[in-house]
Amino acid sequence: MTNMVTYAAVVHNTRPARIDERPRIPRIGDASPGARHPETGDLHEMTTHDVEKSVDDFKMYDSGTMAEPNEFWTLLRETAPVHRVDEGLGYTLVSRYADVQDVLRDPDTFRNGVARFFDKGSPHPDSPAVAAVMADAAPYREVLGFGDGEAHARHRRMVRAGFTTRRVRQLEGFVSTVVDDLLDELVTGEPVDFVKQFCKRLPILLIGEIMGVEKEREHDVYRWATSLMARAAAPPETEDDALRIARDVVEFHQYVYKAVADRRESPRDDFLSELVANSEGIDEHELAHVCAQLILAGADTTIAWLGSIFDLLLAHPDQLAELYADRSLIPNAMEEALRLQSVIKTIYRATSRDAEVAGQDIPADSLVIPLLGSANRDDAVFPDAATFDIHRPNVRKHMAFGFGTHLCAGIELARAEARISLTKVLERTSALSRVEGEPLPKYVPDFTIRGIDRLPMILHPAER
Ligand code: HEM
Repeated sequence: MTNMVTYAAVVHNTRPARIDERPRIPRIGDASPGARHPETGDLHEMTTHDVEKSVDDFKMYDSGTMAEPNEFWTLLRETAPVHRVDEGLGYTLVSRYADVQDVLRDPDTFRNGVARFFDKGSPHPDSPAVAAVMADAAPYREVLGFGDGEAHARHRRMVRAGFTTRRVRQLEGFVSTVVDDLLDELVTGEPVDFVKQFCKRLPILLIGEIMGVEKEREHDVYRWATSLMARAAAPPETEDDALRIARDVVEFHQYVYKAVADRRESPRDDFLSELVANSEGIDEHELAHVCAQLILAGADTTIAWLGSIFDLLLAHPDQLAELYADRSLIPNAMEEALRLQSVIKTIYRATSRDAEVAGQDIPADSLVIPLLGSANRDDAVFPDAATFDIHRPNVRKHMAFGFGTHLCAGIELARAEARISLTKVLERTSALSRVEGEPLPKYVPDFTIRGIDRLPMILHPAER
């Protein structure tokens, strides 16, 4: 965090426009706060009165903005498409589709290696007690999604080599079995919490399978995944939370050291053995961080995607009925849910040199956040972008899986999880409905992930 002062100075010296210089546009709405958008199921993006708002009325770490960022993002796209904020480490937000793509297309200028800003992978400084715990974690390495150039290419080749066609097919078979098992456990005709009982379990069991963890340790994998994600997200609320998170991270790294050593000694027919076999020139610490990233990248993301798919379909019964009638619409429907609620809100890039985006200067050594979720709601690319439409012809242009060199390495798996889940739920049911009297699910105020944490739902059994 030694760069904090230097970076803050850079930010203050180069602030692009003063608050009162920016255009203010009226936001006119007639819904009460907290009401749902009738089409998207989103919390209402308008406010009670005819209020003028500007981007400076929003704080990124405010829980309201984290839970419902769309009003902020719309204002950014309309009035301040390249916008510097001083919160956290100080970030330049890029919000329009074309500009986000420009940033991601130029990995030499906009680099993934952000370690000089982050303290061992966390955007928040560790207290001495947390640092003492973290001393037993794998020494920090910039790997894969936090790496650049040749090192990134090496890590990516290794991970992709693990996802051979045969291995992906094997993993898809595992997904199919787990989906069946989980759905067998769900009662039909009565309320269930679909997020808790299904969405949160499938990706964790799959990641466990990838990491070679026994099925009985599902809760450990969930705890590791949550803590790895928490360390990279908003500041922990209490020192106790920070310590608990650090202990989980250490426990996971120690697990990986041991699992990797086991596979070196006696390889099995599994993903981790494949990873180890392809890890020439990559040391144990890098491997531990690669595995951490697989958990980080594969768990909360897919949990959130699954939740959004079903929440949006419940909010749009007409489109759900179309899916029951025509299963070929499934791939488009699930991509549309991902476009609309793009699960990953925050990715980081650091400028290696002075840059320009949409005519605005971004100095070297700036932290940039290309807002994938905002790009995916850009009307310039997706007409009527705030509307859920399973027939949207260009939905696959969404950037929820990123774009360019760092495009999601687990894309086939994530898609398999969504496709198999949706297909099997439709096969086994005749209808899905909300639970009367239950409040509508809300999006969790998280800095990185956009997802709901509960989904009361009734699965009505298919007639046999
Ligand atoms: C809905 C599910 C998922 C979403 C929305 C998602 C999204 C993303 C995004 C946006 C990136 C790019 C980050 C950047 O450019 O900085 C990424 C990278 C990555 N994802 Fe995913 N992901 C998902 C599921 C998965 C799964 C299931 C895995 C693996 C099991 C995975 C593994 C990775 C890895 C390893 C990277 C880093 C790739 C690189 O830097 O070359 N993801 N993902």
